[in-house]
Amino acid sequence: MKVKIPRGTQDILPKDVKTWQMIEEQIRQLMETFRYEEIRTPIFEHTEVFARGVGDTTDIVQKEMYSFQDRGGRDLTLRPEGTASVVRSFVENKLFSIPNQPTKLYYIGPMFRYERPQSGRYRQFVQFGVEVLGSSDPAIDVEVITLAMKIYQSIGLKNLKLVINSLGDQRSRTDHRQALIEHFRPHIHEFCTDCQHRLETNPLRILDCKVDANHPLMASAPSILDYLTDESKAYFEKVCRYLDRLQIPYTVDPTLVRGLDYYNHTTFEIMSSNEGFGAITSLCGGGRYNGLVEQFGGPETPGIGFALSIERMIAALEAEGIQLNAEDNLDVYLIALGDEARELSVVLLNEMREVGLRADRDYLDRKLKGQLKAADRLQAKQVVIIGEDEIAQGQAVVKNMETGEQTNVDLQKLTHYVKENVGM
Ligand code: HAM
Repeated sequence: MKVKIPRGTQDILPKDVKTWQMIEEQIRQLMETFRYEEIRTPIFEHTEVFARGVGDTTDIVQKEMYSFQDRGGRDLTLRPEGTASVVRSFVENKLFSIPNQPTKLYYIGPMFRYERPQSGRYRQFVQFGVEVLGSSDPAIDVEVITLAMKIYQSIGLKNLKLVINSLGDQRSRTDHRQALIEHFRPHIHEFCTDCQHRLETNPLRILDCKVDANHPLMASAPSILDYLTDESKAYFEKVCRYLDRLQIPYTVDPTLVRGLDYYNHTTFEIMSSNEGFGAITSLCGGGRYNGLVEQFGGPETPGIGFALSIERMIAALEAEGIQLNAEDNLDVYLIALGDEARELSVVLLNEMREVGLRADRDYLDRKLKGQLKAADRLQAKQVVIIGEDEIAQGQAVVKNMETGEQTNVDLQKLTHYVKENVGM
């Protein structure tokens, strides 16, 4: 049987996994610095979590969900994003009643969207995201944006562009929506059928349409920034001012509407400004979603967050020619020649690993030359050679692979010696 991997998914092979692990480690470290705690929610949820949470007129819900019925007839969906699940869990587990507020959470895990696969766009991808629930201080918006920037900078990325916008409060959005309808209605027959439908259901989505992106009415569409209420405007100005204080460069783009329905006030994306990064330049996206917790039956709780995929992060690293320094060489490779030595090496290898040395040995019964070659391929820092003569003398030969220097060491002191030699 010859079976291939499903379209839009990928195997992450051992040679690449190290990069993933380093990124994940870097992220977890930053999470500690910023005091965010990890949350793990199920990979699938009741479909209504996303239909209601993300919005049932969005592309994600209408076209991209992996939905199915289980054997008990329940409608379930593989999560296409993390925010709705986190909010569901926040309400269900009453995290709002824990004294330490706001609740600052993060997650890393696979998400699933039935999208047209292309470079940087997968059907299964790993999202890292944060959600802060319980504060409507513009300073927390800026903390979240800063955090997103820091993650990219911490792995060495430089060509980043931060784009922000405000979608305002309910009033701002209602007024803007009306203006959009009036703007597009006379010419809506020139737009795709999706957009014709969106005019009634969700006119803001028209601005996000990929098919009609170049229609002249897009560029002249009413800007949300002209419809912000005084309060929304003041909120957005504070966010901008704090970013200025931190000297974080940004561009305000009133067409940044995002593809999910729960947003209001601050929205943002970080783009890669690398040439040759491909059609998809958006690395990360997020924003404020006041009202979502109430929608899930929780108490009035403002929220803000963002998510990014590790896949696009790695693509950006490649575009900037950055290689994360993934050290995976062995501390020691054990070469045993002869039956007695092979038996002893079972014990020695165990002893070395118990003290934390990265150690391995030959399991293919290779000759000395073959074993030395294997040690070389694994970039072992030291090689320990035990043959019959050595055993008779109660010693082993330790070869430093960098200098080529060889030393006879008593078997009793061997592990200690090897450990000291790698600076442990
Ligand atoms: P989103 O813009 O749909 O927002 O996705 C966020 C990020 O996930 C994107 O910027 C991109 O890095 C990555 N991403 C999305 N789709 C794919 C794909 N098919 N292949 C690879 N990477 C992908 C959200 O998901 C919101 N939940 C973000 C958020 C959190 N807003 C507030 N809190």
